[in-house]
Amino acid sequence: MSLFNVYPLNPIAITKAAGSRVWDDKGQEYLDMYGGHAVISIGHTQPHWVKRIVDQLHAIAFYSNSVIMPIQEELATALNEISSKKDFQLFLCNSGAEANENALKLASFHTGRKKIIAFKKSFHGRTSLAVAATDNSSIIAPVNETDNIIFLPLNDIVALQACFATQGSEIAAVIIEGIQGVAGIHEATDIFLQAIRKACDEFGAVYIADSVQCGYGRTGQFFAHDHAGVNADIYSMAKGMGNGFPIGGILIAPHIQPKFGMLGTTFGGNPLACAAALAVIEVMQKDQLIKAAGEKGAYLINALRNTTGVKVVRGRGLMIGFEMEDHLQDLKKVLLNDFKIFTGEAKPNVIRLLPSLAISMEDINLFLTGLNGAIQQMTQKKD
Ligand SMILES: Cc1ncc(COP(=O)(O)O)c(C=O)c1O
Repeated sequence: MSLFNVYPLNPIAITKAAGSRVWDDKGQEYLDMYGGHAVISIGHTQPHWVKRIVDQLHAIAFYSNSVIMPIQEELATALNEISSKKDFQLFLCNSGAEANENALKLASFHTGRKKIIAFKKSFHGRTSLAVAATDNSSIIAPVNETDNIIFLPLNDIVALQACFATQGSEIAAVIIEGIQGVAGIHEATDIFLQAIRKACDEFGAVYIADSVQCGYGRTGQFFAHDHAGVNADIYSMAKGMGNGFPIGGILIAPHIQPKFGMLGTTFGGNPLACAAALAVIEVMQKDQLIKAAGEKGAYLINALRNTTGVKVVRGRGLMIGFEMEDHLQDLKKVLLNDFKIFTGEAKPNVIRLLPSLAISMEDINLFLTGLNGAIQQMTQKKD
C-alpha cells in the first residue's frame, strides 16, 4: 500500500535525534532550526521527557475520560502556574486544529451566536470550523464553506470596530494568532490585541488566542498575547506542549462554564500525553527556557538584521521569519543540501526559524555561520 501523497517531501529519512541535532539513515548530521515545525520545545529526545513517558508507560498508558485522572489535574495545576492564568480551566485534546475547533465551538455554545471574526492570512488548522477560519481557500473543502466566518485585515482597528458596530450582537468570537506563523511570521500589534479585548468585552464576544505555534514560551512569554498585556478568554495550545508527543488543549477563563457532554474526546488527556506535557513544563521551569527563548531570539534577530542579503526580519523570541533578496530564493534548499541545516519557509521568499527553546548559543552561531556561507555561495554564483 502506498502512502496518501499529500506532503511534498525532502528526500531525507530522519532516524535519530538529540537536542537540536537530527541524523539521517546514512548517519549524516543536521542542525534543526525548524523544530519539526515549532513542535520541539525542550529538545529532541530530552532525557527527562523520555524518562517521564517511559515511566508512565509502565504505570498506565490509557484509560478513557470516564474516570478521575490525577495526572490531568497535575497538568492543569502546572499550566496555571507556568502560564500565570491562575483560575483558568483546562480541556485536553490531541492537536492544534482540535484545540481551535473546540475553542470556536465553546465560544458559540457560550454566546449562543454563530459568527466568527478571523484575519487575512490566518492558519488555524484543518478540521471543519478551524479550516473555515483559515484564510486559504485551497484547503477548504466545499463542505467546510460557511458564511459564518468574517475575514478582516490584520492590525486594522478601524475595520475591526466597523465590523463590531454592524454585526456585534452576532459575533461569538474573534480568533487570532499572536504572531501568524504559516503566513510568514506577521505579528499582531499590541494595540490591535488590546482593541480586540475591548471590542469583545463591549459586545460579549469571546477572545480566542490561537497560541498553537506562537505559544508555549516560544516568544519569551508563555503566550505571545501576553506581550500586549491582555488576557484572552480561551488560549489554544498544541505544538510545543508535548515536545513531539501529540497533545493539544485549551485554557478557558473562569467565566465560561462547562456543561456535561459539551466537549469530549477519546484520546485527549491520556496519561502518556499528560506525562509528556508535564515533562516539558518541568524542563522549561528548571532550565528557564522561556527567558532563554527571549534572550537567544533577540540575539538571533539582531544578527539577522546585520546579515547581508537579508532584507526584513520579523518575529519575537525563537519565532523568526526573514525575507531575502531575490537571488536567494533557493536559500532554504542550499542550507539543507550544502550546509545540513533544516529551516522552515513561507511562500514566496521567507525563511522561518522555529528551533527548540533549549538550543545552545553554539548552535545559534553555527547556524549564522552556515547562513552567511550559503548567502556568500549563492551571491558568488549569481555574479
Ligand atoms: C497557528 C496554528 N494554529 C493551528 C494549527 C494546527 O495545528 P495541528 O497541525 O496540530 O492541527 C497550526 C499548525 O501549523 C498553527 O500554526
